[in-house]
Amino acid sequence: MNILLIGSGGREHAIANALARSPRLKQLFVAPGNPGIARRGELVDLDVADHRSVAEFCRQNGVGLVVVGPEQPLIAGIADDLAAQDILVFGPTRAAARLEGSKGFTKDLCRAHHIPTADYGRFDNEAAALVFAREKGAPIVVKADGLAAGKGVVVAQNLDEAERAIRAMFAGSFGRSGSEVVIEEFLQGEEVSFFALCDGERALSFSTAQDHKRVGEGDTGPNTGGMGAYSPASALTPAMEALVLETIVEPTLRAMREMGAPYRGVLYAGLMLTAEGPKLIEYNARLGDPEAQVILPRLENDLLELMLAAARGALPERAPRFSTRAALTVVLAAKNYPATPIVGTQIRELERAEAAENVIVTHAGTKLVEGKLLAAGGRVLNVTALADTVVEAHARAYAAVDLIDWSGGFCRRDIGWREVARERA
Ligand code: AMP
Ligand code: GLY
Repeated sequence: MNILLIGSGGREHAIANALARSPRLKQLFVAPGNPGIARRGELVDLDVADHRSVAEFCRQNGVGLVVVGPEQPLIAGIADDLAAQDILVFGPTRAAARLEGSKGFTKDLCRAHHIPTADYGRFDNEAAALVFAREKGAPIVVKADGLAAGKGVVVAQNLDEAERAIRAMFAGSFGRSGSEVVIEEFLQGEEVSFFALCDGERALSFSTAQDHKRVGEGDTGPNTGGMGAYSPASALTPAMEALVLETIVEPTLRAMREMGAPYRGVLYAGLMLTAEGPKLIEYNARLGDPEAQVILPRLENDLLELMLAAARGALPERAPRFSTRAALTVVLAAKNYPATPIVGTQIRELERAEAAENVIVTHAGTKLVEGKLLAAGGRVLNVTALADTVVEAHARAYAAVDLIDWSGGFCRRDIGWREVARERA
């Protein structure tokens, strides 16, 4: 089967690697891809926002399945427009992707179906939002309703900070995303990511991971897209995982089906493990980045078969199998990320890291110019290691990172620290 993969990050490189293991894969096309993914498939110059030309490309090239990596095309309705042309898509429709695209929509759905999540209010005017925040007191969480590239969330430690965030959002600092604001109770606990493969009816566990969102060691500094991850996340025990499926994911799928927007694709549940049990922080309509880089190398089933089954609404009964080995990914970012990353610096000796045993290097913001590999974005490379324990995967990943010669980049040195401490205890 020919597949068109949409996206250009480390997540898509990991997806391409996993698809390449499938005996059913004939040809992989990627739009727009990156120099790392180019080794797995043919990069095509397609305007992904132009759904008609994507459909045309699929027809001309016998594409049997389109796999969408990032959320923007889904929220823009690529799955709807391709399905209307009888092209199979792995990823939810626009209506189903509202689980990621609108925080207010998801919070209302949770409230209506008794899904455990933080208590909240939705506001379309500043005055009412300020009153609510003052009533609840700090710490409190202020969120722009729509997509804001992970930057629309302020965890305010005091009321002053909360009020400034509310004013900034209504003043348009997030554009239209901030025209509605959700204010939430602060949840205390450890954060984990849970993934479910969904076919509209059924949800199958697709393993767990823990991301590290802050730019600095010890989880300090501003939020990023994610600076590293490991999988599985043992903090989410198998018993808790079953509870998450039963009390969070399955009621969500039922609700989506009932409103005529069945959810197909990966549903990514960001969870807080609170003293009262797991609670939903947010949904994403896709795999995580860098979570995909730790989950997919552990997958023992055929990803192509699973994605096809989910897209067709016919997932098997049994959940996919994952290796019990641990995977850990370190993200290498360009200096000054996440503010204004300094791009154009040269990366050398990447082959040395790639040659290390049980190490996988995936590309994100890279470009090849006259044979030189250059940084071209904020998050640039991912170095993933597999081992029997997170402690060993951590050591192996950083040993590989240290083989790379890139003075224009940096990474966190403490990825997996919670699990490393648990394993050593
Ligand atoms: P989001 O974009 O909704 O994932 O939020 C970004 C980050 O803010 C999350 O990964 C959490 O670390 C934090 N966060 C969001 N909502 C809450 C909450 N209600 N309580 C505590 N932390 C939160
Ligand atoms: N790593 C967080 C995300 O993909 O949203």
